[in-house]
Amino acid sequence: MNYKIDFNTGFYDNFDVLKEHKMFEQKYQYSTFKFDLRKNKERFKDKNISTLICFDNNKPIAWIRFDHEENNNNSFQFNYVKRNFSTLGMFMIYVLPEYRNKGLASKITKMFEEELLQYYQANNINLNKYYLINAVDLAYDLLDKNLTYFIPSHTFGNFNKNKQDLKGHIRFRAAKTIQEQNEILELYK
Ligand SMILES: CC(C)(COP(=O)(O)OP(=O)(O)OC[C@H]1O[C@@H](n2cnc3c(N)ncnc32)[C@H](O)[C@@H]1OP(=O)(O)O)[C@@H](O)C(=O)NCCC(=O)NCCS
Repeated sequence: MNYKIDFNTGFYDNFDVLKEHKMFEQKYQYSTFKFDLRKNKERFKDKNISTLICFDNNKPIAWIRFDHEENNNNSFQFNYVKRNFSTLGMFMIYVLPEYRNKGLASKITKMFEEELLQYYQANNINLNKYYLINAVDLAYDLLDKNLTYFIPSHTFGNFNKNKQDLKGHIRFRAAKTIQEQNEILELYK
């Protein structure tokens, strides 16, 4: 199994391949995630939607789409400390039916985070704040179980829900910014 990650217009660029391999479902039991293949590709043309595509002997078997461009800077006061955060757009994931229930989605969610972290480090993106990733349904559950550095938020992009989720993560899980986590790791070296 191998994978490739295309930042920026990856979803648009790979749309035909995903379509050819029937890697979309029109309707999901647990999800609001839908594609109408007749007209959807052009909707993604000018959007920064990245993809991670996973292959088994050159055959695509799973993908993740996400908006990694952080163009929103938010902040609020919580426990007497100013909290800065940005939100990444919708994280969505798909695994071909015959490859499901074998841990593949969990595995590629971890790979995705690792790649995203490297991308942030390589591009000198400010790590001294919290990064939330919006997702719903099973995609949210996968993020919640598998993320270390980034923080899942169960919404399509509601700012107040982001704030509420972040407060919960700080209060109950002692969530830290990526920089704070790196500093702690340095101390133990
Ligand atoms: C959701 C999906 C990506 C999971 O892929 P997968 O490779 O089978 O997932 P994994 O084997 O890594 O399982 C991850 C966890 O999700 C749970 N899970 C998987 N499919 C599930 C389902 N249909 N209902 C409830 N839980 C499910 C597993 O039990 C597992 O839980 P665990 O970590 O506690 O053991 C896959 O079923 C899929 O592509 N579905 C259609 C698209 C979709 O709904 N995407 C999510 C919204 S964008």
